[in-house]
Amino acid sequence: MSMDDRDQHDPNEPDVSRRQFLRGLSGSLAASAVLATGVEAVPLSPPSPPEPLEPPLAVGPRIKGQVKVRLNVNGQVKTATVEPRTTLLNTLRDDLGLTGAKRICDRGSCGGCTVIADGETIYSCMMLAVDAQGKKITTVEGLGTPEAMSPLQAAFVDHDALMCGFCTPGFVMSCTSLLKHNPDPTETEVKEACAGNICRCGTYPRIFEAVLAAAKRMRGE
Ligand code: FES
Ligand code: FES
Repeated sequence: MSMDDRDQHDPNEPDVSRRQFLRGLSGSLAASAVLATGVEAVPLSPPSPPEPLEPPLAVGPRIKGQVKVRLNVNGQVKTATVEPRTTLLNTLRDDLGLTGAKRICDRGSCGGCTVIADGETIYSCMMLAVDAQGKKITTVEGLGTPEAMSPLQAAFVDHDALMCGFCTPGFVMSCTSLLKHNPDPTETEVKEACAGNICRCGTYPRIFEAVLAAAKRMRGE
């Protein structure tokens, strides 16, 4: 066949479309790849759609109900209506107006919220109000008043055992409990009793002095 014959388009032959041409070309290339590498080319397939994301874990319904709690605080029965998740500290401060216990860390590490429950010191931020029912709670307000302070409160004043004063109610409660259980503590025992209280102002030496002085006074020495 001469060039002229090939250039001649036979009107009886169908036209080769662009698509047919490309399809033929890719087949030829695949065949070439097999010949060149001995490995059959795998035609590229479109990327599969991404896996659908796991739905978020179902969150339980928030507890919206409120409960009534009866608390024995400083010798008086007080009631408050709170959410079941409310801490004793928040109930004392926000519902009963007893702001002596301080909300500082709100996670059981500073001692600013210390109160006495059934004779033992507790962090009131770590106890739910509903769980405090039936216990005898004493807060710093229950120890004395500015006009009639307890011997320990008076010793804190006399020994200037505070700077900002934010930690002071917690220290007073811890040391009140100590002196109740141990009227003649050593300095080491005072320090151990204060191990759960933090004073950011660093008034520890004066606090220890005040506690030892109060103990002496309470023993009548
Ligand atoms: S506020 Fe409770 S321990 Fe700090
Ligand atoms: S007096 Fe300020 S934190 Fe103790």
